Amino acid sequence: MKMWTGRFSKELDKKTNDFNSSISFDHVMFRVDIEGSIAHATMLGKQGIIPQNDADSIVAELKKISEDLENGSLEFDWNAEDIHMFVEQVLTERLGDVGKRLHTGRSRNDQVALDNKMYLKIQTQEIRALVKELVNALVTKAEKHTLTIMPGYTHMQIAQPVTYAHHLLAYVQMFLRDIERLDDCYKRMDVMPLGSGALASTTYPIDRQLVCDMLGFREITQNSLDGVSDRDYCIELNSALSLVMTHLSRFCEEVITWCTSEVKFVELDDAFATGSSIMPQKKNPDIAELIRGKTGRVNGNMITLLTMMKGLPLAYNKDMQEDKQAIFDSVETVKLCLKTFIPMFETMNENTQKMRAAAAKGFINATDCADYLTKKGVPFRDAYKCTGQLVALCIQKNCTLETLPLEDYKAANEIFDEDIYKAIDLQTCVEQRKAAGGPAPEAVAVQLEWVKAKLDQLG
Ligand code: ARG
Repeated sequence: MKMWTGRFSKELDKKTNDFNSSISFDHVMFRVDIEGSIAHATMLGKQGIIPQNDADSIVAELKKISEDLENGSLEFDWNAEDIHMFVEQVLTERLGDVGKRLHTGRSRNDQVALDNKMYLKIQTQEIRALVKELVNALVTKAEKHTLTIMPGYTHMQIAQPVTYAHHLLAYVQMFLRDIERLDDCYKRMDVMPLGSGALASTTYPIDRQLVCDMLGFREITQNSLDGVSDRDYCIELNSALSLVMTHLSRFCEEVITWCTSEVKFVELDDAFATGSSIMPQKKNPDIAELIRGKTGRVNGNMITLLTMMKGLPLAYNKDMQEDKQAIFDSVETVKLCLKTFIPMFETMNENTQKMRAAAAKGFINATDCADYLTKKGVPFRDAYKCTGQLVALCIQKNCTLETLPLEDYKAANEIFDEDIYKAIDLQTCVEQRKAAGGPAPEAVAVQLEWVKAKLDQLG
C-alpha cells in the first residue's frame, strides 16, 4: 500500500510500479537516508514542530532500522517505491502514528537531493583516497627509476630519450589534477538542500542550519527551487571521473603496448594477467584492456546525465531519478578500476635493458647532434638539415649516429670533432635535458620534491 493513497481509488498497476520504483538501485543510500532523517527528526523535536518524545522515539527506531538493515535482520521490500518510502513505511509499521510524523515539513524531493549528496560525498572521498594511493605507487616506482633511460615518443615514433621515472611522473601530474577536480566538485556538493521542501520550502519554523551542522555540510542551499533540482554535482563528479578513466585508459594502453612481444618493456605479474583458451603461449593484459574499455561506460554515463538534465523545467521532475544509476555506476566502475590497476601496476616487472635498447634505436639522439652544431655556432636550421643528411647517410650505411665514422661527420661539417660521440651518448642526452620539467635526473629530483609538497598540501 502506497503512502500517498489518499487521492487514489486504485492500487498502482504492477508493471507501472516496477517501472516507477527506484529501490533496486537507491537502496544503497539507506545509511545516509536514515542519517538525514535522524537529523530532520531531531530538528523537528528541538523546534517543537513535533513533540520531543515522538522525535526521540523516531530517532531511536531509525537507528534500530539502520542496524537491522546492516545485519540483514530487516530485508528491503523490492516492491517499495524507493528507499525513502521504504524506511518511512517500516518506521510507521513499528511506531504507528508517531512514525507518521517524521515527514513533517519535508518532501522526498529535498530528501533525495540530500541523500544523493551525502552518498556521493562519501564516494568522492573514497575515490580520492584511491587516486592518492595510485599517485603514491607511481611516486615510489618513479624514485627507483630516475636513471632508467627509455625512449620518449611522438606519433608513436621514437623521438627523444626520457627516463621511466619521468614518464611515470607525467601520470602523477594527471592524477594530481584529478584529486584537485574531485576536491573542487566536493566543495559544491557539500551544500545542504534539506528544507527546500517539494520546491518552495515550508511553512514550519524549521532550523536548516542545525540540520546542516548535524550532517557536517559546509553550508545550506540558498534557493529552494535550485535546492531540489540541482544535479550539477552529479555531472561535475562524472566529468571528473571521466578524466580519471581517461588517464587510466591512456596508461593501460601503454601497458598493453609495453607487454607486446615486440616491445616487452614490462611483464605483468601472473596474478594480473590471463591466458588464452586455445593458445598455450599467451599471457594477455586483459585487466588493462578492461579498464580501457570501461572508460566507455563512464563517458556514456556522462552523456546520460547531461541529456537527462537538458531542458528540464524547474523544479523537481521524475526524470532526475535517472541520475542515480548513471552516477552510481560511474562511481563503482572507477573504484573497481583503481583497485585493480594499482596492484597490477605495483607488481608489473620492468625490463630496463629492453627500455634502454629501444632508446638506442631510431636516431633518438638526432636532436642532440643538431644541438651540438648549434652550440658551436651553426644556426639551428642549418644544423637540423646537416643532421638530417647524416641520418640519411647512416640509413644508407646501415649504422647509427654513434657508430658513424668521424670522417663522415667532418665531411658534412668541419666543426664536428671527437666530442660529438660524447654529446650524442644517451646518458648525456638525458642528463643535458635539465630544464625545469625535463627528464634529467637532477630535474626529476626537483619534480619529485614538488610532487611530495603537493601531496602534503592536498592532504
Ligand atoms: N525516487 C525518487 C528519485 O530518486 C525520489 C523523489 C520522488 N519525488 C517525487 N515527487 N516523486 O528522484
